[in-house]
Amino acid sequence: MCPADTETLDGGEPTWWKEAVVYEIYPQSFNDSDGDGTGDIPGIIEKADYLDELGIDVIWMTPPYDSPHADNGYDIRDYRSILDVFGDMDDFERLLEELHDRDIRLILDMVLNHTSDEHAWFQKSRREEDGYEDYYHWVEGDPDQPPNNWTSGFGGSAWTYDDTREAWYLHLFHEKQPDLNWRNPAVRREMHDVVEFWLQKGIDGFRFDVFNVMSKPEGYPDGDPDGGWVGMEHFADGPRIHEYISGLCDDVLAGYDVLTVGEGMDITPRSAKRYCGPSGDGLNMVYHYDHTMLDYGDGGWWDIVDWEVSEIRDALTKWVRQLEVTDAWNTVYLGTHDTPRIVSRFGNDDRYHYESATMLGTLLLTFPATPFCFQGDEIGMTNYPWSSREEMRDADATNRVELALEDGRAETFSDVADVVRYRSRDNARTPIQWSDDEAGGFTDGDPWIPVNPASDAINVANQRGRPDSVLSYYQRLIELRHNEDALVYGVYDLLTDDHPRVWAFERSFESERLLVALNWAGRTSRVDLSEAGEVASVLACNYDDPGTDLGALTLRPYEACVFRVV
Ligand code: NOJ
Repeated sequence: MCPADTETLDGGEPTWWKEAVVYEIYPQSFNDSDGDGTGDIPGIIEKADYLDELGIDVIWMTPPYDSPHADNGYDIRDYRSILDVFGDMDDFERLLEELHDRDIRLILDMVLNHTSDEHAWFQKSRREEDGYEDYYHWVEGDPDQPPNNWTSGFGGSAWTYDDTREAWYLHLFHEKQPDLNWRNPAVRREMHDVVEFWLQKGIDGFRFDVFNVMSKPEGYPDGDPDGGWVGMEHFADGPRIHEYISGLCDDVLAGYDVLTVGEGMDITPRSAKRYCGPSGDGLNMVYHYDHTMLDYGDGGWWDIVDWEVSEIRDALTKWVRQLEVTDAWNTVYLGTHDTPRIVSRFGNDDRYHYESATMLGTLLLTFPATPFCFQGDEIGMTNYPWSSREEMRDADATNRVELALEDGRAETFSDVADVVRYRSRDNARTPIQWSDDEAGGFTDGDPWIPVNPASDAINVANQRGRPDSVLSYYQRLIELRHNEDALVYGVYDLLTDDHPRVWAFERSFESERLLVALNWAGRTSRVDLSEAGEVASVLACNYDDPGTDLGALTLRPYEACVFRVV
């Protein structure tokens, strides 16, 4: 049994990964140390003091492994080496040491579901070399007729015909990301060894990429053609997934004190409890997309619909309530490298930039869950004004745009510009704006992806040490979370389940009671929170002089306050 199980079984004991604030680093966009235009590991080391000052506890680094980067590292060519543009294994070990010296832990993104088509296993498998024939999902058949109607997460069929093997292979993502066949015990052994290899290096855990789609049903039945991502009902939480995840936990992870978080596709609290918590397979936690899919209409990626504060509140509250029943631990994030910038999506990146960026930070850092903060959100980075196909890098958005241009749904980039500007994952991937220097201080060379022109005004240099900056606010809130057990372990009690704009909740732990009030709107709201008692002190607020009369609390646009109440 994994350590996570034993801890939660005896009553949810304090654990470092419950108390941690996790910060996601997307290395290619973090800091470039050698002027080649791409961020690298020595670049992260240069910023280790910045990370320390911010106060975060754990870094989740997206894949640094050798890869052709068809999907920016989620297409791994060699699991045991570092991509040369990022540095080498010595750099990685130095980074780990520098972080550990500052009491910051490091977890790595591990892609178990698929490899690159340039991985030696795939090359051998497509040539049917001895022992490698079944490393991937191969189906023979008519080269004009894919084996079923499943679609790829990036649009188009999930199958590509391989002329070398004269068979179809499955890829739930890009055609350069063939899915591994976990039914094959040799594949499971290989992946266990890879996980062990990194644990032996001394890393502190993993974020498991799309971990719950690794088991595919025999016969690959057709999916519901109207079901959005076609086939999802067959491969999300597939038939043997618990055997695979508990096998990995029991055989490898159980021997280490690590943080493990799984990225769940189409996951519900009910299925999450089977992976983590006392009756789960042994993962510490999973994360879901419920609140970040609210602005998708029936037409999927192309269909942008309005979201309501109440929907986000309900989606996140549902997870708290349903997980707490079994003591399974929760996660919270608002943005990652796969989503648009949070202040542009959920806030107001113009008139209320500071107020809404800090309000979102307040939610993230006071919610009952391990918080995951994406790089740059701590300074309120915004979406980029994409203006041509040439500027785009994201495999997902470019694939969709190219398919639309090919099949006539769009004639020019301007036909798709609004959706790309809103939706593209590239929004999160523009380089960190360190200063208002050329290229935002990210590189001395040509950046691999455009730098946001907003770097003139929004950058680390002009926020560092300024008490009224988004960055300083994040620092204060991270410190508050570290000082207040109620923010980590406190019971969550929703106080405004029908207010259209205000989200207020209490966190209580032993005799401590904290009240968090968020006005998620660009207008003033009034609310009666007298049931929470009286304000004893203001622990944080993104405005000066907050009101403290809980019976008639007036909250200014995007005002966010944390009160101690009695
Ligand atoms: C989820 C990752 O977060 C995303 O960036 C990637 O494209 C897919 N998994 C495929 O690995």
